[in-house]
Amino acid sequence: MNVLITGAGRGIGLALTRAFLNDGHSVLAVSRNIEELNKIGNANLTAYSFDLLNNDFTPLLEKVSKTFIKLDILINNAGMLIVKPLLEFSDADFDKLFNVNVKAAYKMVRGCVPLMNQGSHIVNISSIGGFQGSVKFPGLALYSASKGALAVLTESMAIELADEKISVNALALGAVQTEMLSAAFPEYKAPLQPDEMASFIKYFALSGHKVYNGKILPVSLSTP
Ligand SMILES: NC(=O)c1ccc[n+]([C@@H]2O[C@H](COP(=O)([O-])OP(=O)(O)OC[C@H]3O[C@@H](n4cnc5c(N)ncnc54)[C@H](OP(=O)(O)O)[C@@H]3O)[C@@H](O)[C@H]2O)c1
Repeated sequence: MNVLITGAGRGIGLALTRAFLNDGHSVLAVSRNIEELNKIGNANLTAYSFDLLNNDFTPLLEKVSKTFIKLDILINNAGMLIVKPLLEFSDADFDKLFNVNVKAAYKMVRGCVPLMNQGSHIVNISSIGGFQGSVKFPGLALYSASKGALAVLTESMAIELADEKISVNALALGAVQTEMLSAAFPEYKAPLQPDEMASFIKYFALSGHKVYNGKILPVSLSTP
């Protein structure tokens, strides 16, 4: 399979890249910092440094079409977290959070769908905080709202791509021990390591679209 993973430079995305490569799949791994990816040394890996806050996605989309004639799996995993009390977010914080967590995922889908055939799968990585009815935590208002937006966008994408037989699902992840989580909550110990979550996401990306489409699935041990 040809797989594109954003946010692949560290955390869950890096573990996911390794997991797909270990199974012999080809991966285009996108992140600003590609140092760890460059250390992997696998002929099936193309690492590409790109800032998803860039307005112009043309260079990234050209890289995608140069790397793959067709794309089977797109995983919008890149994410950004800013923790602040509700009334202290700046306009710039708002824009950054929504641009990385929602707009970039939309632009990836818009740019990649022409390369995707019937049976392809788009997986958007959301958060349990953005899952309707979940317990909400102080400081995470805009992050959770952006992940909620990504989840609803997923439902709409699935409807609009149904004729092309491209499936779109979102995984609303619970806590995983990554740099993002440690930076925000240094005392908290998550019940899952990145490779454990990555192994589930890989399995889901490869086979979940046979039974789900347009679904937002909570994948969480930590909160309901
Ligand atoms: N860890 C958790 O507990 C948890 C829970 C729920 C959901 N999630 C979601 O899971 C996904 C992976 O998170 P993680 O915990 O692995 O976090 P992480 O370690 O901070 O990794 C986030 C990735 O996103 C990339 N990224 C961020 N901003 C970017 C930008 N402007 N352009 C390109 N890439 C960018 C980062 O790469 P560069 O810095 O190299 O660009 C990094 O590879 C995120 O969507 C996150 O919201 C995580």
